[in-house]
Amino acid sequence: MWWDNAVVYQVYPRSFQDSDGDGVGDLPGIAARLSHLAWLGVDGLWMSPIYPSPMADFGYDVSDYEEVDPLFGTLADFDELTAQARAHGLRVLMDLVPCHTSIEHPWFTRHPDWYVWTDQPNNWRSAFGGSAWERLGDRWYLHSFYREQPDLDWRNPGVVEAMQAVLRFWIDRGADGYRVDALDRLLKDPEMRDDPPATQPFGLPLPDFLADLAPVHSSNAPDIGVALASLRQAVGRALLVGEVYLPAAEWEPYLEHLDHAFAFELLHSAWDAESQRRAIAASIARPGSAAWAMSNHDFGRLATRFGSRNARSAALLMLILEGPAFLYQGDEIALGEGPEGARYDRHGRDKHRHPMQWDGSETGGFTTAEPWLPAVDPARRNVAAQRDDPDSMLTFVRRLIAFRKGLGPGLELLDAPDGVLALRRGEHRVAVNTTSSIRPLPEGHGAPVIETGPGAARGGTLAPRPFWCSSSPGTTSSSRTR
Ligand code: GLC
Repeated sequence: MWWDNAVVYQVYPRSFQDSDGDGVGDLPGIAARLSHLAWLGVDGLWMSPIYPSPMADFGYDVSDYEEVDPLFGTLADFDELTAQARAHGLRVLMDLVPCHTSIEHPWFTRHPDWYVWTDQPNNWRSAFGGSAWERLGDRWYLHSFYREQPDLDWRNPGVVEAMQAVLRFWIDRGADGYRVDALDRLLKDPEMRDDPPATQPFGLPLPDFLADLAPVHSSNAPDIGVALASLRQAVGRALLVGEVYLPAAEWEPYLEHLDHAFAFELLHSAWDAESQRRAIAASIARPGSAAWAMSNHDFGRLATRFGSRNARSAALLMLILEGPAFLYQGDEIALGEGPEGARYDRHGRDKHRHPMQWDGSETGGFTTAEPWLPAVDPARRNVAAQRDDPDSMLTFVRRLIAFRKGLGPGLELLDAPDGVLALRRGEHRVAVNTTSSIRPLPEGHGAPVIETGPGAARGGTLAPRPFWCSSSPGTTSSSRTR
């Protein structure tokens, strides 16, 4: 399928490109920058939500699934964007938010029975802290996230039918598939039993306020497959990538219907070879299931998550793995994060969402107005400057994406000296030294084909933090790319 080895570029629409001078990014802005994506060599883009929304959770609180928020443009702008994307050979993925709507969605008043209610709140918690129940009159509604995001009841056929219509709406309009939001929270225990105390670690990082309970009843119900089958039925063969916040060992019921699930074990892995090895091993246990991402609008950027000295290695690791890889906007220039704070997002995620830096001007070329969040450091780091620099992160990422297109199938973890992660992808061997000292090269490596810096692998050793691929012994050596 087109996505098997694809690189999908995550656009955060508010922060990509403003075209109408209101300080917020929009669809015509995205269309105007598609040439950057085509030049970079990616296969498609995933747009975080563009639907009408009161923006309590910046679009993940949808008040109309079949429209575009006026802040971002119109349906005609969407049509123009998909037409231009097609002309550039780029696929377009939408973000489907099926677990909850905005409390301002007309469904909430017109079809209260489409939501999850109780007369007696249990101990379920919101992913953002506090009880997952909010009182309204003499009942409580469930909100797995903010209280402005009431959970839909996926056991109600009306909900299933309405959401299937939504899925078809955007596919018919030219979308190529969906990243599907918060799927592990889609179906809950119909008896609404309390979550029991946690007796073992969840397997992925959880905030302290969630970690003492095992979310076995508030999420991931055993019959999740029924709901997922209805998503699949609505989209036919279009791509469905699930945000399933569960360790890979628990993906099976999801993968019966989805094409891929995001590999959160690798995203959250510490920067050390052993943790990365464990994370990759878990995610490839069922071959062909993982979608790779090492950064996004929720958890932060490559350069910050793994340290700016490791940004190239992190990009290379992600782009060398087999299966679709999702690159968050700005990571191609190693954009860092903004300051701590919660000016807009109560959960403190503003810092991951600062605008794209296209040039060295004060707003980074993102807007002609006051940007909704200021640019981080456009004079130091921007697309225009890095495009012309053969040693820049941008040039490196572009070269990696081109290199990736020629990689054959197959991914295998290899034995390696301590502190070194080694794997085989197609005919290439890859090694990363995650330590800050010189390490021996794993056995069997040939001449370097691509490396994070010149001379990273030399004289049988790996310099600190290099990352390179080589052709395996016995195969024809490709020429060095730097
Ligand atoms: C997903 C989104 C996140 C949002 C949440 C609730 O995790 O990525 O941004 O807040 O779902 O929709």
